[in-house]
Parts: sequence; C-alpha cells; structure tokens
Amino acid sequence: MGLTVAVTGPTGEIGISAVTALEREPAVETIIGMARRPFDPVSCGWQKTVYQQGDILDREAVDDLVAQADVVVHLAFIIMGSREESSRINLQGTRNVFEATVAAERPRRLVYTSSVAAYGYHSDNPVPLTEDVPARGSAEHYYSEQKAACEALLADVTTGSSLEVFVLRPCVVAGPKATALADAMPWNQLPGPVRAMSKVAPMLKPVVPDPGFPLQLVHHDDVAEAIALAATAPAPPGAYNIAGDGVVTISEVARALGGRPVRVPAVAASAASAAISRVPFVPSMLEWLHVARTSVVMDTTKARTQLGWRPVHSAQETLAALANVV
Ligand SMILES: NC(=O)c1ccc[n+]([C@@H]2O[C@H](COP(=O)([O-])OP(=O)(O)OC[C@H]3O[C@@H](n4cnc5c(N)ncnc54)[C@H](OP(=O)(O)O)[C@@H]3O)[C@@H](O)[C@H]2O)c1
Repeated sequence: MGLTVAVTGPTGEIGISAVTALEREPAVETIIGMARRPFDPVSCGWQKTVYQQGDILDREAVDDLVAQADVVVHLAFIIMGSREESSRINLQGTRNVFEATVAAERPRRLVYTSSVAAYGYHSDNPVPLTEDVPARGSAEHYYSEQKAACEALLADVTTGSSLEVFVLRPCVVAGPKATALADAMPWNQLPGPVRAMSKVAPMLKPVVPDPGFPLQLVHHDDVAEAIALAATAPAPPGAYNIAGDGVVTISEVARALGGRPVRVPAVAASAASAAISRVPFVPSMLEWLHVARTSVVMDTTKARTQLGWRPVHSAQETLAALANVV
C-alpha cells in the first residue's frame, strides 16, 4: 500500500506545486489537503488528492487530518499579515499540527517548511549560512521571530518521539505561480492607472534602494521537489537549506518587477533597520525592511548531497519567469 500524505495549506503558492509534485510520486497513493477556503482538487487536475476544509486552529480538525496520514506536510502559515493575527495562527496553529502529529499513531514522518528567516538577520552569522547555524530569528521582524519560535517548538514537541522530522528552510520562493514577491512591491499596491503610467514613463518608476546584499530565489517547482523528497525519500531527517543556484541583486529584482533601483551604502540599510526597531508601534509590513540589512545567503550542499535535491531553475531564471507574468 502506498503512502497517505496530509498537507496543511495545499492551496498556497508552495502548496499547489507541492501537491502537484506529490501527485507524481509513485510511492504516494493518497494526498489529503486541508485549508480554510473551499477548493476543488479537480481544478488542478489532481487525481490522488482529496480536500477537506479546516482550520489549523481547530485541534479536532487537525487530529482528524493527521490520524489518516503516514506523512504530514505542514505548509499552512500567514506570511503577510499583522503581527497579532499571524502570531495567533502561526504559533497556535503550528503547535496544534506538531502536537497532533506526535500524538497520532499513524504518522512516521513530519515535514515542516520553515524559512531562511528563521536564522534571523544577524551580522555575526556566517555567509553562507549552513544548517548548523542556530535558528535564532530576529525579534523585530514578526515572521522571522515566529519561524524561529516554530522551529524551537518543533524540537521541543518531537523530542523523544520516533517521528522522522524534516525542516526545510527555503529562501524567497518565486516563479509564474508564486507572485507574492512581485505583489509585495509597493508600486503594485498603487491604483491601476498610476501603475500603468509608471510603466511608460521611466522617471515615474518607484525608486528602490539597493544596499548591495545578494538575494537567493528558488522556483516553486524546485521547492515542491524538495518537499516531495522530504516526504518520501530515504534521506536523513534534519534541517535543509533550499535555494536555487546563484544570486540576484536587489537592483535586478527591482528592474525586472518595474522599479527604479538606486544603489545605497550598506550602512543605510542597517541605519533604517535600527531606526524602525526603535519605533514602538511599527506597521507589520514595515518590519520586512529588516530583511535587507544583511546577507542571508545559504549554503545548499546538504540538500543536494543528503536529500538528493537538484534545483532546475537558477535564481536568475526564477526572476525572469516571475517577471514574465507580472
Ligand atoms: N512563499 C515564500 O517565499 C516562502 C519562503 C520560505 C518559506 N515559506 C513557507 O512555506 C509555507 C507555505 O508558504 P506559501 O507561500 O505557500 O504561503 P501562502 O501562499 O500564503 O499559502 C498559505 C496556505 O495556508 C493556508 N492557511 C492559512 N491559514 C490557515 C489556517 N488557519 N488553517 C488552515 N490553513 C491555513 C492557506 O489557505 P486558506 O487561506 O484557504 O486557509 C494557504 O493554503 C509557509 O510556512 C511559509 O512560511 C514560504
């Protein structure tokens, strides 16, 4: 009998590609997806997947989901949201998934997508980051803080259990079916006519400061392959950095997505980050500026050598594929 894989958040930018990759795996017989909104798996052409509506904050719904599974893949998360709402869902919801999986009899593997953000933005971290660097997060960025807290929680909840625990730490995920990076650009929040004018008049293009730190990107299909491997391969459990080959600059990202890059000294990014940290009530969206204050380039050797992962798309190709659709 093949594997049954339960997936929280199967309808997200990573979820759609991850379930598509799991559908191709001969070892996988059934996939059970759960998220809050109504969704029909047939709309994606999936044949092994059933979908049940449910909230990870609802422990009974989570218990019911994981009880049916050999492997649990936890993707459900709030990335762009307020500090308060994201904290409620990400911390309590993730706790429910981890505790329910440990308590259930059937699951033998748990795959959790953490993030490069779990490392935090610390100037004393090595570059590139390897998996043995502590995931200490940065308290001033809600997402980074929550990703680090979830990893600590995972270690705590699974200590002493026989579960095989895989933690994937992807960099920014992008591609034609993962447009959040482009959607987050401030000019894409502008009204349509203003945006259209900036496309034809270069001087109206919004300015994007580039402090010079390189960025990694990973294509949604490559991260999906990593998830499918973590769910099914005879690989050692543990943490794995996930990023495409090569890097892009913030200037290249800005240019590709419709902005006008301007190089600024690296100290400007640190100063902006420090200034934001001192303000007591910062809008959660602004906290993302901390990301640009240092390099968080990761070493992906372990995913290649131990998980058997080979990304097909480089960072440059992933950016080009995203730029093609926005
Ligand atoms: N995208 C990136 O660049 C990136 C990079 C590194 C790591 N990651 C991590 O990868 C994971 C997946 O990210 P993504 O980009 O696919 O996110 P996404 O596009 O925002 O999708 C989130 C998914 O979670 C579901 N969800 C949210 N709240 C839920 C709840 N309370 N109960 C049940 N389901 C819920 C959503 O569906 P409903 O809203 O219908 O519930 C959706 O299916 C996250 O842990 C994220 O932190 C993402």
